[in-house]
Amino acid sequence: VNITTGKRIAIANTLLPSRTAYARFSLENLCDVIWGKQATDWMIPMFWGICRKYHGGVFAEIGTRGGITTTALGMAARDVGGRVYTMDISAEFADDAVSNVQMADCAPYVTFITADSSATDFPEPLDVLFIDGDHTYEGVKADFLRHEPNVKKGGVILFHDPCVYDGIQYFMKEIGAYVIPIEAGLGIYTKGPHIPAGVLRRVA
Ligand SMILES: C[S@@+](CC[C@H](N)C(=O)[O-])C[C@H]1O[C@@H](n2cnc3c(N)ncnc32)[C@H](O)[C@@H]1O
Repeated sequence: VNITTGKRIAIANTLLPSRTAYARFSLENLCDVIWGKQATDWMIPMFWGICRKYHGGVFAEIGTRGGITTTALGMAARDVGGRVYTMDISAEFADDAVSNVQMADCAPYVTFITADSSATDFPEPLDVLFIDGDHTYEGVKADFLRHEPNVKKGGVILFHDPCVYDGIQYFMKEIGAYVIPIEAGLGIYTKGPHIPAGVLRRVA
């Protein structure tokens, strides 16, 4: 399914891995859940693809809101035998978030935490961290400084909205992160040197 147009396209089975049917079901399910919900659509399969490189991976998110990006992490966790922690200072959209991960069949893999990310740690070391909480320079910096030490070597930190918020873009420059300048943009900071094969190629 093309997530921009909603059109279904045929893909030759010979080009796909042996779990074709399952992968196709997963992507269609994912696209159905996120379709039309917000402008981060193109990031969802990318997050899913990055996380699926980490077998048994631990993925975390700061900024759950309605749980759209949470579904991408959750579906990857289900696929690789991993788990997700998603943290938000507010529970205002918690019902939506729970509903979305249930629709994506990944609820058992997702733990919701209601807390201030600038003062609360995730319970275990992380492979992938998505920072999408406080969008000020000070907020993003505080999240990075608090949680980066808890990201494993070989892990990845993703930042939403560097093309919308000057403070985030400025911080991306400070830490030497890559920025994909599509729509609101995505910042990518890799904690080398042992990045799984495919992750850097996928996001370069
Ligand atoms: C842009 S939204 C997240 C969108 C979400 N990732 C999605 O896919 O729908 C930002 C969220 O960050 C939360 N937030 C802001 N400051 C925070 C903080 N210090 N700790 C935890 N969450 C925070 C807000 O409550 C809000 O729900």
